[in-house]
Amino acid sequence: MERILQKVAKCRWSRLAASRRPLSTSNFFITTPIFYVNASPHIGHLYTSLVADAAQRFQRLLTKNVSFLSTGTDEHGSKVEKAAGKMDTQQYCDKISSQYVEMLSMYSVDYSTFVRTTSLEHKKAVHAFWKRLNDRNFIYTGEYSGWYCEADEAFVPESRTEKLADGSRVSAESGRQVDWTCEENFLFRMSAVQSDFSHWLKDPSAVQPSKFHSLVQLWVQEGFHDVSITRPSHRVPWGIPVPENPQHSIYVWMDALVNYLTVAGFPDNLQNWPADVHVVGKDILRFHAILWPSLLIAAGLEPPRQIQCHSHWKVDGEKMSKSRGNVIDPRGQIGSTLTHEGLRYFLLREGTNHSDANFSQVKAMNILNAELAGKLGNLLNRCTGKSLNPRQIWPAFVEAAVEAQEVAPLIAALQELPAKAKQHYAAFNFYKAVDEVILVLQVANKFFEDQKPWTLARDSAEIQSILSLTFETLRVVGIVLQPVIPKLTARLLDRISVPLEKRFWGDLEQFLWDGVKTEQPLKSEKLTLFPRLGDGK
Ligand code: MSP
Repeated sequence: MERILQKVAKCRWSRLAASRRPLSTSNFFITTPIFYVNASPHIGHLYTSLVADAAQRFQRLLTKNVSFLSTGTDEHGSKVEKAAGKMDTQQYCDKISSQYVEMLSMYSVDYSTFVRTTSLEHKKAVHAFWKRLNDRNFIYTGEYSGWYCEADEAFVPESRTEKLADGSRVSAESGRQVDWTCEENFLFRMSAVQSDFSHWLKDPSAVQPSKFHSLVQLWVQEGFHDVSITRPSHRVPWGIPVPENPQHSIYVWMDALVNYLTVAGFPDNLQNWPADVHVVGKDILRFHAILWPSLLIAAGLEPPRQIQCHSHWKVDGEKMSKSRGNVIDPRGQIGSTLTHEGLRYFLLREGTNHSDANFSQVKAMNILNAELAGKLGNLLNRCTGKSLNPRQIWPAFVEAAVEAQEVAPLIAALQELPAKAKQHYAAFNFYKAVDEVILVLQVANKFFEDQKPWTLARDSAEIQSILSLTFETLRVVGIVLQPVIPKLTARLLDRISVPLEKRFWGDLEQFLWDGVKTEQPLKSEKLTLFPRLGDGK
């Protein structure tokens, strides 16, 4: 035992801690969880993907560097095998996996790689990871007994179970049934990494938002116990066998977590490690914030820089579930009703990290009509309408032509927007960034109404300056909203002739009034940015 502990001590992760960097600015590497193929995609899965996609798009705007977004499907375990029913399990996995690919492309999730846990490349990474842990003495065999929750594919400590009136037991967290199980398993010596783990967790940015960081700290106080990392293969045949010991299948969560290394080229060509951000939903926080960093520390690899946790979507106030029949597949009707960019906007505009959000089609339609068709689309129509802008130009801005005190609120709002939005995006608070944009649009629409340009002489310097400032608002807002609605903003920025190379965050440092702005033609033909959706009552 002593010898083992010495060996374990040698590979302490704290030696690596010195090299820990803040979130990287080049090659930003962000991941989504990989999706279970036991069911088709729903809006919760889409949301998790949109959070990661919007974050990487923001990083690209900021740094102009490439980013790396990984996603994929989690295809092993008894749940998947059961879901396949009579169908060949691999064919079933192929079918559902392709549904996720379809959803991601429909909603412009710009992923760099899509990993599948049934791929050879991934199996190779899992085996290499296993061997590494084994070589470092972090794996041993033993009898493992405890409450196993098949639906969650996890052992649950008794303290986190509840006994029901009928004598059965459920997991307190998920409410799903647990059964007493006693098996010969391989165990991971997680208890040996607790102090290195605590060192990693000390940094509040390791788990965000802070509410979830505190929760993980509480979990850690329960103490680290060794955990089972295999199941007998006769119980879970649809899994990756333990190297040289095929009577055991590697625990699905260990298999799944290693996907983040597979996509980074482990074991032969590991690059860009650690990941900057793992985006996860609150239901899988424990696996990502405790088990995964522990496994990495044991393997002598750096834990992720950040775990970004979000809350869940309910539908009309209820948890989404097959039995309630309220599961919304983003590939279905809802995408045609709200449009794909519309649903993307709504999810990022309403979803928050800290509390559950509620999906309602009526609410979504009302918000989209009010904000995208109303505030944003309306402003574009106002300054591109033929009667006020017959020559279809972005006119020059003549400062002296407009009353300083009348433009002051709009100019101040525009000047403040980039810094505010940047802070919210960086904290994954997309809804707050959108809030700021909407406030600016309100100021701009009010400015336009107050100025009453339709009462002024055509081609006067005054009217030109009002239009010019309105276009400037659209430019700023268009750049800021790119992470949330990439396609709509591309159309908007095309329409008002903002060149592709001028759509970065740095382009928000210089405003219209900071330099000489000459008249410019508008590029494309008339555009209805976001058509009003059918009656949203
Ligand atoms: N396969 C595991 C993850 C393994 S990652 C190494 C898994 N898959 S999942 O398909 O069930 O969930 C994938 C993601 O979708 C998780 O982040 C989960 O939190 C998220 N969501 C599932 N239901 C959700 C909502 N109702 N709302 C928001 N996100 C939700 O867990």
